[in-house]
Amino acid sequence: MSKPITITAALPYANGPLHIGHLAGAYLPADIFARYQRLHNQDVAFICGSDEHGAAITLRARKEGISPKEIIDTYHELNRKAFEDFGISFDIYHRTSDSLHQATAQAFFLNLLEKEALELRESEQFYDEQFQQFLADRYITGTCPKCQKAGAYGDQCEKCGSSLNPDELIEPKSTLSGSTPVKRKTSHWYLPMQNHQHWLQQWLSSGRFDEMAFPITEHQPSSWKSNVMGQCTSWLQDGLKPRAMTRDLDWGVPVPLPNSEGKVLYVWLDAPIGYISATKAWAEQTGKNWQRYWTEPDARLIHFIGKDNIVFHCLIFPILLKSHGGFVLPENVPANEFLNLEGQKISTSRNHAVWLHEYLQDFPGKRDELRYVLCSIAPETGDSEFTWKDFQTRVNSELVAVLGNLVNRVMVLHHTYFKGKCYRTASCQSAELQASVERMYDELQQHVEAYRFRSGLQSVMELAREGNRHLTQREPWKTIKTNPDQAQADLEDMLWMLAHLGCGLQPFLPDTARKVFQMLKLPAQLAWQDEIQWPAGHTLNSTQMLFEKIEDADMEKQRAKLNPAPSDPAPTPSLAAAKDPITFQDFSRCDIRVATVLSAEPVEGANRLLKLTVDIGIDTRTVVSGIAEHFAPESVVGRKVCLLVNLEPRKLRGVDSQGMVLMAEDLEGRLHFVAPPEGVNNGAQVK
Ligand code: 2FM
Ligand code: ZN
Repeated sequence: MSKPITITAALPYANGPLHIGHLAGAYLPADIFARYQRLHNQDVAFICGSDEHGAAITLRARKEGISPKEIIDTYHELNRKAFEDFGISFDIYHRTSDSLHQATAQAFFLNLLEKEALELRESEQFYDEQFQQFLADRYITGTCPKCQKAGAYGDQCEKCGSSLNPDELIEPKSTLSGSTPVKRKTSHWYLPMQNHQHWLQQWLSSGRFDEMAFPITEHQPSSWKSNVMGQCTSWLQDGLKPRAMTRDLDWGVPVPLPNSEGKVLYVWLDAPIGYISATKAWAEQTGKNWQRYWTEPDARLIHFIGKDNIVFHCLIFPILLKSHGGFVLPENVPANEFLNLEGQKISTSRNHAVWLHEYLQDFPGKRDELRYVLCSIAPETGDSEFTWKDFQTRVNSELVAVLGNLVNRVMVLHHTYFKGKCYRTASCQSAELQASVERMYDELQQHVEAYRFRSGLQSVMELAREGNRHLTQREPWKTIKTNPDQAQADLEDMLWMLAHLGCGLQPFLPDTARKVFQMLKLPAQLAWQDEIQWPAGHTLNSTQMLFEKIEDADMEKQRAKLNPAPSDPAPTPSLAAAKDPITFQDFSRCDIRVATVLSAEPVEGANRLLKLTVDIGIDTRTVVSGIAEHFAPESVVGRKVCLLVNLEPRKLRGVDSQGMVLMAEDLEGRLHFVAPPEGVNNGAQVK
């Protein structure tokens, strides 16, 4: 029996609809991973649901003048359906208002008390006299002590990402009444996080810790993403502090102790336990054993989240799981960064977002197009950016022109010449195509298992590109006249390749994969690297168009829907996302050398260009460089630079340019020379 894999995706607050940032951050990568594991016949529990407690819900209800229950019922259903319509293949989409969750969370809390894992403490907390309510988390706002910006909350400043406590806020105000709060005494149960510093440090850095007993799976710390490790290390370096696990609120899971009226569990204690209660609910529905997915020594636990949830999943929840005992700890938490939209942060309150349910209405039958684009630009290593222009370009020039075109050409040619009837059993006689298919499987496996979904998708697209190249090279439209057997054999090779392409596409673009299989008259789903089988005489189904071009007018309509406030501050410039991977061989074709600029002069009629004479060790040559707006000619003479010397020569404003000077562009758009250290000889190779 295969290992159980529990894949969780952050429970979204049921206080608003889902947007593309949510999808790119957690849900799409989680879905690709879950689908990939299922294709490998792994025993997957893919868990999610609505997070229905906490200030996010109550504040929205108050703003709209309705009850929290109305809010969660509305958005739970809207989001559940949007996920389903988008094809996110959760095994269950549960909710934390469910009684099974309440019972599970309360039992968990009582277990922590029994283990003496929590400490009762009395303290003075902010209190709103008008609303007669203690003010924690989002109920209190003020100026951030770290970045000095207004609008920070009692738990976090969203402007600079610092984690805060209400006492740190400058000029605190109640978000309920807007008044300055007073201090009142109250008692809460605290998690003494400082007592867990040592083992957490060991566990995060080495994958295990001294008193590690069954059933904790060792993880490979090297496989944790650097953005995740960075946040954890920074918390550990600052020193962990006690954190209250209960709140004075009337919305949440009640503290199951006598004399605790008006006290509920902290939402960040309750919500991750939601993963466990959702697994229990799923197991009840399907006759499975939930414990297999959380307590068996070989169970794998992987949390997909956005970067704002890192500390809760990598520090706080592991402390809770370990203190309770009997649970596995996460093997990995592949958190993504944030997705921006048309140069600005996605903002729910300003309606600067692409809402999933609206996309599905506006682009019926095009969910794979959004999956493709969001996976291609997923913020895996840094914040990234969605624009409608880029969406259109990727659909038209990649999905339509590369993938759709390949499948269409092969199908149409085969139908035209051979009426879709295959002469031999499914097989491939081209060693080249076979190697390409094998390479796709190998690369895909490496990328997906390391949570590099962008690269994984690129490996599949590379097979489609190779397919197009192969078809162009074999020219069946010519050989059909001279050697029809050859044309038939070549096209049947291509059909075999399309079946494998469909197989690789399954986790990423499930609808497209299904359509490919349907055209080839294969089962709707194929297991990983399944042998492709059809008998001699197999007849294909008719050809379907996989994708259609996205028109400018559609993009205009979408842009018009966005609502960036005119008073918005200029967007913070962000670093461009990493480009698609290239092989070492690709890179080694670049001949980069150390060179010295001997002379520099403006190019007549071109404000941006300087004509440079450079000594590259092996010769002296002329290079035209677009740096005139950044550097005066005299300031560059004598500089050591790095030069791409084998760039195809070009004539710029009548001057022959033989190479390109490498420059670094900073966030303000300023250029800087990529300068080798003094003393390195001209002609030295940069590699
Ligand atoms: O940030 C959020 O949207 C939270 N509702 C995520 C909770 S994840 C888990 F702990 F439930
Ligand atoms: Zn701040």
